[in-house]
Amino acid sequence: MLIDFDTLEVAKRYKLMSQCIVPRPIAWIVTESSNGLNAAPFSYFAPLSSSPAAVVVSIGHKSDSTPKDTLKNLLQNGKCTICAVTAETLPKMHQTATELDYEIDETKLFGIETKRLLPDFPPIIADTPYALFCTFMQKIDLGGKTVPLILKIENLYISPQNVLDENSLELNIQTVARVGKRYALYDKIVEPPKN
Ligand SMILES: Cc1cc2nc3c(=O)[nH]c(=O)nc-3n(C[C@H](O)[C@H](O)[C@H](O)COP(=O)(O)O)c2cc1C
Repeated sequence: MLIDFDTLEVAKRYKLMSQCIVPRPIAWIVTESSNGLNAAPFSYFAPLSSSPAAVVVSIGHKSDSTPKDTLKNLLQNGKCTICAVTAETLPKMHQTATELDYEIDETKLFGIETKRLLPDFPPIIADTPYALFCTFMQKIDLGGKTVPLILKIENLYISPQNVLDENSLELNIQTVARVGKRYALYDKIVEPPKN
């Protein structure tokens, strides 16, 4: 099967890309505005660099063509807190993907507990194994409807129960990732082969 992407509909490109380029980590992003908090998942999400420490997340538009709330908030105030998803929080994360009016706070609507760790950033989702406190660096113009944002990691939080050894920085993080429209639990680690 060889597929020419230039002549393929966007939905089909998404269907194929999202099953081939796997697993995709899920950024469960908390942003803030004068209306309160906003939480939503994004899996067009990847680490970009460690120096500067940066990630990229691509965010699209709502069905009425206005920017998704996360995109709007990030472009307005330049701050977000990226949380991770576990097997336990997967159902709540999935609920927060519902398209809602800007004014609605998903954490309140779906009963998601949050905890403010840093005064200058949105709170974390209470059960997250880790959180990245990020500031907006740049927007990339791809000429399409999806807007990749480069975000700088200013601080990292790791839940104490996910730290194996504080001195050697060994962690045990088991998160949920996306494979096509389904989910995968990343819980099997193999050692690299010995040369
Ligand atoms: C697992 C998962 C991953 C998603 N990844 C993306 C993504 O990378 N980009 C995007 O624009 N929407 C993505 N969505 C859809 C958004 O979560 C959804 O449009 C949400 O309503 C956006 O919320 P907001 O308007 O509060 O920002 C994803 C949904 C799910 C369930």
